[in-house]
Amino acid sequence: MMSTLSRSILASGLLVLAAATPARAQDDAAAAWTRIHEVFSHPRCANCHVPADNRPRWSGANYGATPRVHGMNVNGDESRIGARTMMCGTCHAKTNSPVPHGPPGAEVWVLAPLPMQWWDRTSTQICEQIKDSKRNGGRTLERVIEHVDRDNLVAWGWSPGPGREPAPRTKDALVADLRLWVKLGAPCPKP
Ligand code: HEC
Ligand code: HEC
Repeated sequence: MMSTLSRSILASGLLVLAAATPARAQDDAAAAWTRIHEVFSHPRCANCHVPADNRPRWSGANYGATPRVHGMNVNGDESRIGARTMMCGTCHAKTNSPVPHGPPGAEVWVLAPLPMQWWDRTSTQICEQIKDSKRNGGRTLERVIEHVDRDNLVAWGWSPGPGREPAPRTKDALVADLRLWVKLGAPCPKP
């Protein structure tokens, strides 16, 4: 027979365990989001997810210490492909230029739609944006993950051409972090 004392020690131990599990899951979810945000805010991604001035960014080690807007007065305008002035495809081909500082390329080279702005946004704002189907292209989080897994502009982030540092870790690691974060309730950091 178990004594009352050992029974209550056992019970309090179980209570501690029960309380510890959700806290640990919260930590895991927060750590996964931190890694996801490191990628989303990286120059290879944020240079295209730009604000209402519609100007792609040149930022990252390849472009010097100070982030700046795209050279040559390039402006994507509301079309986000430069329809009013010079189309992105005038210089950006389907593959990367093999020459350092030559234009990078992918199947279709175009700015992300304005509601998907990440440039100058906080981690919390980016997190809330990708969860908001009104601003993320009408996607469920499952569809957001699918986009990350299959889109060729996302994939370009890990093969950006000579001289450009790739996005952190690997695309598969990003997909795994997104799956974990969604499984744990997709919490956003407090503002
Ligand atoms: C006149 C040619 C030209 C046009 C037009 C042009 N680009 Fe570029 N773009 C370049 C070149 C060249 C580079 C690479 C510069 C370097 O590596 O120093 C570049 C780099 C970029 C980068 C940086 C990628 C990175 O993270 O390293 C982005 C983003 C970009 N362009 C987007 C666009 C978009 C979107 C359009 C259309 C609205 C566009 N560009 C139109 C020539 C052009
Ligand atoms: C050349 C420009 C360009 C680059 C570089 C780029 N994106 Fe995008 N991104 C887009 C466009 C365009 C869309 C809209 C596509 C759509 O809705 O079908 C988009 C949409 C997305 C979405 C859809 C959901 C949302 O709300 O944002 C995700 C997620 C995303 N990009 C992730 C990334 C990641 C991660 C990287 C870097 C590894 C990256 N993108 C680099 C242009 C770019």
